[in-house]
Amino acid sequence: MNHFRFILPTEVIFGVDSIEQIGEIGNRYGKKALIVMGGNSARKSGLLDRVVGILKDKGIESAIFDKVTPNPTTEVIRGGVALAKEEKVDFIIGLGGGSAMDASKAIAFMSVSKGDILDYFPGEKYFEEGPQGALPLITVTTTSGTGSEANQVAVVTDTEGNRKCGLRTKDGYPTVAIIDPKLTVSVPPRITAATGLDVLYHALEAYVSKKASPYTDLLAIEAMGLVSKSLAKAVKDGADIEARADMSLANTFAGMAIDHGGTVAIHATSHPVSAYYDSPHGEALSAVAPTYLKHYYRTDIPKFAKIAELLGCQEAGLTQEQKAEKASEYLIKLLEEVDLRITLSDLGVTEDMIDTLTKNSFETMKGAIGNTKGTLEYDEMYQLYKESL
Ligand SMILES: [Fe+2]
Repeated sequence: MNHFRFILPTEVIFGVDSIEQIGEIGNRYGKKALIVMGGNSARKSGLLDRVVGILKDKGIESAIFDKVTPNPTTEVIRGGVALAKEEKVDFIIGLGGGSAMDASKAIAFMSVSKGDILDYFPGEKYFEEGPQGALPLITVTTTSGTGSEANQVAVVTDTEGNRKCGLRTKDGYPTVAIIDPKLTVSVPPRITAATGLDVLYHALEAYVSKKASPYTDLLAIEAMGLVSKSLAKAVKDGADIEARADMSLANTFAGMAIDHGGTVAIHATSHPVSAYYDSPHGEALSAVAPTYLKHYYRTDIPKFAKIAELLGCQEAGLTQEQKAEKASEYLIKLLEEVDLRITLSDLGVTEDMIDTLTKNSFETMKGAIGNTKGTLEYDEMYQLYKESL
């Protein structure tokens, strides 16, 4: 068994209507909050007004930064930091999906750190040293996808350098994560499917990674089981609160699992696709995942056999190896069930771009590549892309 360390400093508050607690929680950290969010969905749904109202009842003033884009960029982070400083806020609230969570983390730590967000990218000036702290951060997730609400990773895209990087720092941990499954009921089916599959890949990748530990295995197995049980239900009936609660829990568990277990080849190959094509994360992952399972199940037969079982394989008389081989097939069944059987070609990727994507992955996703069991050099990755077209 690997040596391992496990720490999770984020206070997790889980349950239907737990959002009501945001005022008393916010009170611990000060009297002025910066709410970090994207576009309009929290406005349209009335969630923003509700949060601002709950805070106001506790005497907390809110400033709003609503410029977060999907795949948030370094520009977005700079804009949020400027507003946090201008408004002299005491703490940050990340409100929305994974992009809002990630942006809020980077804004929280860049608000008290030297230099520019780009200085903290892999290989840059302050990458090794890391940030110098962070403003207190409360994350409120409205999707079940990235698991970002309770881990230390902030994924930020440098558009000029075509780099989408997961910045990992102890200062990225939210102080408190409020996970209220009711906030996810309005997520449309396609996004429920894509984000729910991201949950599955987080759990699956952490489970088969080199850094897996008994802690991350527990979280990953539970998360995969919950996705298998409830994702299709949540896609078909968004108001199914039991299914939504299962997905919210799976999301948080899977996010905790990758915090320590990390991701592997599926995320390594999909980040460059999102960086170049701005593809939704869950879709880029789903284009590559079956190919990865097909080629890598031999790297850990017992674990891939367990994945096949968790995805519904109950065929009698199979050896462990035969069962492991079926993991890809059962994943495809799930993808079809939630209408997300997709190829890289569907996302606009052409064969002449594979060399660029492969090289980009080796520049930006070294951690996930090194965390993949088996051989994952240029040729293997090129092949993963090619077979996923
Ligand atoms: Fe992800």
